[in-house]
Amino acid sequence: MHVGEVKDEKLISGILKLKAERKAVILAHNYQIGEVQDIADFVGDSLGLSQQAAGTDAEVIVFCGVHFMAETAKILSPDKTVLMPDLNAGCAMANMITPRQLKEMKKKHPEAVVVCYVNCTAETKAGSDYCCTSANAVKVVKSIPQDKEILFIPDKYLGDYASKQANRKLILWEGYCPTHRRILAEDVLRMKAQYPKAEVLVHPECTPDVIAMADKVLSTSGICNRATESDSEEFIIGTEIGILHRLERENPQKKFYPASILSDCPNMKLNNLEKILWSLEDMIYPVEVPPDIARQAKKCIDRMLEIV
Ligand code: 13P
Ligand code: SF4
Repeated sequence: MHVGEVKDEKLISGILKLKAERKAVILAHNYQIGEVQDIADFVGDSLGLSQQAAGTDAEVIVFCGVHFMAETAKILSPDKTVLMPDLNAGCAMANMITPRQLKEMKKKHPEAVVVCYVNCTAETKAGSDYCCTSANAVKVVKSIPQDKEILFIPDKYLGDYASKQANRKLILWEGYCPTHRRILAEDVLRMKAQYPKAEVLVHPECTPDVIAMADKVLSTSGICNRATESDSEEFIIGTEIGILHRLERENPQKKFYPASILSDCPNMKLNNLEKILWSLEDMIYPVEVPPDIARQAKKCIDRMLEIV
C-alpha cells in the first residue's frame, strides 16, 4: 500500500464518520475529480442535484460543484445548512450577466418572458420567470405560449440550440462557457476520422458547429445514461473532461475519447477529500441567499420543476 493510499483511507474514514455525526449528505457534479465523485452520496447533473437537494432529509448538504449549484440547493432547502468545501468555485458563465444588465434588457423587451439557464446567480434567477437546465431547456421553451417573446440568458449556445429544437426565435444574451468553447469543430472532425465507429455525445453548451456534428446532444447525466444504454462500444465526448471518470467507472468495457483535452473547468476541480473533511469539521463554507431573493428565485426554479 502506498503512502497516498493510507492518507486517502484516513481521509475517507474521517469524512464518513463526520458525515454520519452531522447527518450530512455529499452531492457531487459529474465534473468533480474522481475521489470526490467516489465518496459522494449522489453524482449528477444540475437538474438531478437540485432534485436531490430538494428531496433530502439530511440536515447538512456538502455541495461539491460550483457556486450557482450550491445556491440553488440552498434556495430549495432553506432550512438546511449547505456547505461549499471551496468558496472560490464559481462558474465563469454565471458571472457573464449581472442583475443590472438583466434589468436593462427587460426594459428593452418589457413584454418578454425571461428564461434563465440555471448557470446564473440567485439574483439573476430572482429577475427571471423560468429557470431551465441543459436537460430541459427545449421543454421549458416549448412550454411557453407561442405569442410570447422570450429572452434567454446567459448561454447563447444553449439558447441557440433550444431555439432550433423548439423552432422558436429567442432573444439571446452574449454569455457562453469558456470550457465548452475550447472544443472546436476541427477537434471533433479529427476524432471522428480516428474513431469512425464512435458515437459522438456532446453537451448543449458547445458551439453550434460542434453540436451539428453530434449524434446526441445531452446534459452531463444524459451523456452518462446514453453511454450505458447505447450498443456502441466507443464514444467521442464533447463536454468537460471530468465526466470521463463516471463514464469509465460505469462502463468499464467501453472506450471514451474526449473531443478535446482542453475542455477542463478549473473551478470544478477545486474540491478534494481534504477540503470535504475540513468542510465537515468546521462547517465551512455555508452558502446563504437573502430571503427575498431566495423567494423570488425559487418561483422560477419551481416552474421548471413543475414542467419536468
Ligand atoms: P449539466 O446540468 O448538464 O450537468 O451542466 C452543468 C454545467 O455546468 C455544464 O458545464
Ligand atoms: Fe460553468 Fe462552464 Fe464550468 Fe460548467 S464547465 S461550471 S458552465 S464554467
